[in-house]
Amino acid sequence: MRSHGCGDLRQSATGQAVQLCGWVDRSRDHGGVIFIDLRDRSGTVQITVDPDNGAEMFAVAEHLRNETVIQVEGKVRERPADAINDKLPTGQIEVLASAITVLNSVKGNLPFAVSVHDEENTREELRLRHRYLDLRRERMNSNLRLRAQTIQAARRFLEEQGFIEVETPVLTRSTPEGARDYVLPSRVCGGEWFALPQSPQLFKQLLMVGGIERYYQVARCFRDEDLRADRQPEFTQLDMEMSFMDQEQILELNESLIAAIWKSVKGIDLPRPFPRLTWHDAMERYGTDRPDTRYGMELVNVSDLVADMGFKVFSGAVASGGSVKCIAVPGGNDAVSNVRIKPGGDVFSEAQKAGAGGLAFIRVREGGEIDTIGAIKDNLSDEKKAELLERTGAEPGTLILFGAGDTATVNKALDRVRQYLARELGMVKTDSENDSWNFLWVVDFPMFEFNADENRYEALHHPFCAPNTDDLGSDASQWAQTLPGARAQAYDLVLNGLELGGGSLRIHDSALQRQVLETVGLPLEEANAQFGFLMEALDMGAPPHGGLAFGLDRMVMLLAGEESIRDTIAFPKTQQARCLMTNAPGGVAEKQLQELHVASTWVDDED
Ligand code: AMO
Repeated sequence: MRSHGCGDLRQSATGQAVQLCGWVDRSRDHGGVIFIDLRDRSGTVQITVDPDNGAEMFAVAEHLRNETVIQVEGKVRERPADAINDKLPTGQIEVLASAITVLNSVKGNLPFAVSVHDEENTREELRLRHRYLDLRRERMNSNLRLRAQTIQAARRFLEEQGFIEVETPVLTRSTPEGARDYVLPSRVCGGEWFALPQSPQLFKQLLMVGGIERYYQVARCFRDEDLRADRQPEFTQLDMEMSFMDQEQILELNESLIAAIWKSVKGIDLPRPFPRLTWHDAMERYGTDRPDTRYGMELVNVSDLVADMGFKVFSGAVASGGSVKCIAVPGGNDAVSNVRIKPGGDVFSEAQKAGAGGLAFIRVREGGEIDTIGAIKDNLSDEKKAELLERTGAEPGTLILFGAGDTATVNKALDRVRQYLARELGMVKTDSENDSWNFLWVVDFPMFEFNADENRYEALHHPFCAPNTDDLGSDASQWAQTLPGARAQAYDLVLNGLELGGGSLRIHDSALQRQVLETVGLPLEEANAQFGFLMEALDMGAPPHGGLAFGLDRMVMLLAGEESIRDTIAFPKTQQARCLMTNAPGGVAEKQLQELHVASTWVDDED
């Protein structure tokens, strides 16, 4: 049907007869001559329709609505000098039409203009409802290509390294990754349920027991959790697992993989090795385990300095086992007014959203003098003041914001305020390509965190991560005591403040695996019922192994410069985990429910 892609034509094709197919991006009637911008996935080209070349064809062209699918025959010619469009790759030429065939017309009203010129104003809800129209646009078109290129680059690299792609089941048992499962009733095994995998975690470990040694998969994962811009209920991992490699080798291999992807997709040589930070230092210096290191404003712990000063908010926080930390905002005296930090202000409200009661602050003036609410100033000796300025690196003009209270809340609040102010004050470096790719390995995560509400330990990653043997003690009888405080041999790759991927070495000793399951509250019997197959496999010659999974949607989002993974997925779901186009999820017939041995307890509010 066609000889060329619309966007592929250049001056070199001048004089050639061509056949093109595509959509009418828009058309303009210029006093007797009609110009059609014809678009296909390669781009757009101008079609010129002259009535002298056929009255019938001209009549067709006069009535073409945008998005009509047409085939055009014609000849490529150079545009006159005053009609050259430098902004368009095909802007030097046009195609003089000799025949136009309508392949399909647009019958109803278009819900929004597809043409790229109007893209910005379309509500996302409309874009998702008519995703097929949205996909015709340059932005989504290029995002999907970039996604395909990313997967291709990853596959090429991993296959060169001897990895083989293995598909793992989607109808399976629950795989604990910390979210709720999507479950499916079994018709043939009445009363029993499959769970969709939150990740291929257990299967990839079993592939290692199966002697595969190097596995990867572009794996669909399902998690029923609260959705955000970087979370979807079904998403894709670039998942891998390898045997006989230590943590150092796994990190090295994954850096090479990331570098290969960035080189292939963006043409960028990433500086390596990627910096590393322990989980403990990340929490201390940034208040989060996925710090954005494109800018400074690190958290500074001043608990010791302020513990015994007369300011109750500070001394009280330290006395009750919490912390006082601060961030120094360069230029903050001019940029951030008192009103913004006090109740009702935007900076205050960021801290509040993280659970903090508020923020104390001081302003550093010329000569190191400080301005503040009375309580801090009156109680800070000259010596401590000097120490504070030294630790924070604060200079005249700097605003110092303090958080005080339990350490987790202080970290959360200052992390949030730090990120907010960095965006607000334009501190995020995007000037040179390399500056905007701040990769960071966070290592030495704790095995568990304590859930005070439920009075039990939870696995920080998942309960299959291997503990650091240095923290365990020499014999197994100590594990019950040593495990809760142990570090895991687990690592996350963070990019510009976003968790791009994570993994760990795994437990390959069934006794240790049982102990970890017991620590997260699974007594032996239950552990055997749920994970007996894993423990059995570990006892049949499981090799030492470990792995990692990257969030592919997130990776593409960052590569494409998008702010939401919805813009990297062809048919994503909304915040309510609904597909606006197909209207899934939806009801099923009563008969189907009966076959599945399921009865609904759902009650509509209106009933
Ligand atoms: P984890 O749970 O950290 O690890 O997931 C790995 C990566 O997947 C991405 N991700 C998501 N992306 C979009 N929407 C979601 N709902 C979502 N949840 C996670 C993140 C994350 O870093 N089995 C382990 C990996 C391993 O240990 O090898 C796992 O799934 O980018």
